[in-house]
Amino acid sequence: MSTVGSIIEGASRKPVTLATLGAMAARGEAFACLTCYDASTARLLEQAGVHLLLVGDTAAEVVLGLPRTIDMPLDVLLALTAAVKRGAPHTVVMGDMPFMSYQASPDKALENAGRFLVEGKADIVKLEADASYAPLVQRMTSAGIPVCAHVGSKPQHVALTSGYKAQGRTREQAEKILADAAALESAGAAMLLVEAVPTEVADAMVERARVPVIGIGAGPNCHGQVVVLHDVMGLLDKTPGLARPVANLGPVIREAAMQWVRSVAERDFGGKTFTMRGG
Ligand code: KIV
Repeated sequence: MSTVGSIIEGASRKPVTLATLGAMAARGEAFACLTCYDASTARLLEQAGVHLLLVGDTAAEVVLGLPRTIDMPLDVLLALTAAVKRGAPHTVVMGDMPFMSYQASPDKALENAGRFLVEGKADIVKLEADASYAPLVQRMTSAGIPVCAHVGSKPQHVALTSGYKAQGRTREQAEKILADAAALESAGAAMLLVEAVPTEVADAMVERARVPVIGIGAGPNCHGQVVVLHDVMGLLDKTPGLARPVANLGPVIREAAMQWVRSVAERDFGGKTFTMRGG
């Protein structure tokens, strides 16, 4: 079988769906989420038992090498989302709606969310929101599009917050985040994602929510935990703050590439060779 064929066929575990994640949350079983941006990695992550793959707009930085999350082009993220679903057909795939794909007009937002399901093959879309987005979430939900509402620290808002900052550290801010989450859930959000808030704020959200709450930098008690793949796998030069790395693959890849450079220099790299026909 060709490499591409084996990527598309993926693994054969029991499919994980949004209902599976809801049931796990209800049973108090934590589910594991990672960002992912390509089919080959998605296949490995599905084989490893990861429950949800977020095709995040962090792709702007970690895949495209762009300086800011808000630079992520919609069409590229749609293509990456479809690639991840092809690699992990039995895993929940969440498409992250990039900056300005849902803020400018509700009609455009609905159309773009629909593109994530149709072209991107996503199971659910994520958007950064506060209570003012409740009507949009309601409209998407009525159209049959499951929505995850991202509250707390919101990377697409860094221009307003002057950089990545924890949120909800005052009582007033915490109450606002909890009220936003409640309004978005009432509007139909199928999931909440809360980023960089004190543990007690995330715990209060989990306590009140009837839908799964995914945390990142929000303490250990959320129903699911997500982190950027490159951070947790040690693929970047910076040390990540929001989770302990589980591997240090950067040096492994560098060493493997150095081995390839040596093999080429020595003209000794194995592999298939071809002979002349009829000669
Ligand atoms: O884009 C992303 O990777 C995210 C996570 C940081 C939650 O939104």
